[in-house]
Amino acid sequence: MQLDTNNIPQHIAIIMDGNGRWAAERGKPRSFGHQAGVDTVRRITSECTRLGVKYLTLYTFSTENWNRPATEVAALMGLVLTSLEDEIFMKNNVRFRVIGDLNRLPIEVQQKLHETEEHTAGNTAMTMVVALSYSSRWEITEATRQIANEAKEGRINPKDINEDMLTQHMATSFMPDPDLLIRTGGEERISNYLLWQIAYSELYFCDTFWPDFNEEELKNAIADYQHRQRRFGKTGAQIEEGKEHKA
Ligand code: IPE
Ligand code: IPE
Ligand code: MG
Repeated sequence: MQLDTNNIPQHIAIIMDGNGRWAAERGKPRSFGHQAGVDTVRRITSECTRLGVKYLTLYTFSTENWNRPATEVAALMGLVLTSLEDEIFMKNNVRFRVIGDLNRLPIEVQQKLHETEEHTAGNTAMTMVVALSYSSRWEITEATRQIANEAKEGRINPKDINEDMLTQHMATSFMPDPDLLIRTGGEERISNYLLWQIAYSELYFCDTFWPDFNEEELKNAIADYQHRQRRFGKTGAQIEEGKEHKA
């Protein structure tokens, strides 16, 4: 797979779906699929740094996933803890960040997340962002609450509320919007992920269950992305003209 190295998405977001079905196909418990999914995270993280991706945002546990059986939630929390021990961050010069409603997480998980963020704060090749206990409606509600408070305290004027201000109040304020959103596992839905941020992202859906997703499939997704024309509301001719001026 030949990729255009001048057109690598700066930010890739992934909905890592299909772990449970992957395990069920093998007659194994769902947690076995989650475990296998961690290996995929490792491989895809390395490949993204190799390709020059700057931000990788992984949907790891949604607000709605709290409604799963307690045993599965506990297994997932355990996996988060052990996988943060990984050398992957230092080995690949990757900075780790987490977004989500972290107060709901077990205290030892909160501590480990915090430690990992601090430990990797100086890494510069790529930022890996894990969305944990995250949902987009939670995030937008929080942003709204903050802005309302600032208005009430007289620190901002409601007349000044604009898109930039909302963007700055999202949990993702430290990074650009995703260029490419990938969902594995066959479902074609967003499941409450980054609703504000994906307004103009390119969407890519594939049937592969997350544990089977690999470097080749990632490159297929990027190649597909590279064939798209991102028009942002303009006409195709305007975009082509812009390219000529740049060249
Ligand atoms: C994605 O895989 C991982 C999480 C949501 C935590 P699933 O656990 O949703 O797997 P399926 O969709 O049931 O196969
Ligand atoms: C989305 O997967 C959340 C994560 C991948 C963490 P789900 O499997 O929870 O999504 P739905 O419920 O099928 O839409
Ligand atoms: Mg699922």
